[in-house]
Amino acid sequence: MTKNSLGLTAADAAAELRTIRDLIRYGVSRFNEADIDYGHGTSNAFDEAVFMVLEGLNLPIDQLEPYLDARLTTAERQKVAGLLHARVETRKPASYLLNKAYIQGIPFYVDERVIVPRSYIGEILFSGLIGGDDGGDDDVDDFTLVEDPTAVERVLDLCTGSGCLAILAARIFPEAQVDAVDLSADALEVAKRNVADSGYEDRITLHQGDLFAPLKNRKYDVIITNPPYVDADAMANLPPEFRHEPAMALASGEDGLDIVRRILKEAPKHLTPEGGLLCEFGTGREILEAEYPNLDFFWVETANSFGEVFWLTRDQLKAGGK
Ligand SMILES: C[S@@+](CC[C@H](N)C(=O)[O-])C[C@H]1O[C@@H](n2cnc3c(N)ncnc32)[C@H](O)[C@@H]1O
Repeated sequence: MTKNSLGLTAADAAAELRTIRDLIRYGVSRFNEADIDYGHGTSNAFDEAVFMVLEGLNLPIDQLEPYLDARLTTAERQKVAGLLHARVETRKPASYLLNKAYIQGIPFYVDERVIVPRSYIGEILFSGLIGGDDGGDDDVDDFTLVEDPTAVERVLDLCTGSGCLAILAARIFPEAQVDAVDLSADALEVAKRNVADSGYEDRITLHQGDLFAPLKNRKYDVIITNPPYVDADAMANLPPEFRHEPAMALASGEDGLDIVRRILKEAPKHLTPEGGLLCEFGTGREILEAEYPNLDFFWVETANSFGEVFWLTRDQLKAGGK
């Protein structure tokens, strides 16, 4: 068994630690000591340890307080200490060790065939930008991308990976049929499992292929996409956690925008007259603005990003695209 810098194995730690609080504290100490990287649902050692301990014990991940001082059985302590040690030793994202990731509180099965879901589009779909009510002053008209979600009949999720955004779209657009495309047969196996678990099997259709190729001439009211967008320099310097993810889910040419350019070119043909494209693309905003001076991008803000997602209507794409 592998020992950490204190000479402790996971079994040694499990024998001494008693409570959930103990295990979280131990996880934070080990993560800080090993200087691991975050970015797969959490951004710091405490949140990572809380997620791993609660999820590892099948407890609700948003309810720490009632359980903090609960003592654990020996088997539970061994399981959780094993997970915390594995996180440091393998540098795998916690979601791969637990086969679980959450977007907007909704759980998805994940393994190393797909990236760990973390798209900003999840938050946007659940915001006032879809459907109109931002919770603010009712005298002010709320700005919306899609005014009436119930009027949306067809949605496309390009580059679907685990199927997470297609499933969220099926919730937000209750009358819509959702097509979801990925080039990776492996990813689609994971998506198939999540779609089955979601209960939306009758409304989500998975397709294997290169971007729009499997869709023939089909048109959509809304296209959402979180395509690969990591540039070559960042790919060469990925922290170990991100190297466990499929490279084809991340890499997209020298400046990271190869696939985004293809989407901008092909999307207008696949949008209805009132349709629009919601695309996450990372940090290449300046490049896009310089390359498409006539495209009237609407940069969508989220809690943790500004200018990493754009919205364009079909008319804007037609008027300003290449
Ligand atoms: C950044 S991941 C996004 C996955 C998922 N939508 C999410 O937000 O978690 C990008 C996905 O695009 C897929 N992909 C890469 N190139 C593709 C292509 N040319 N056509 C379709 N899918 C592609 C990858 O397999 C990967 O699953």
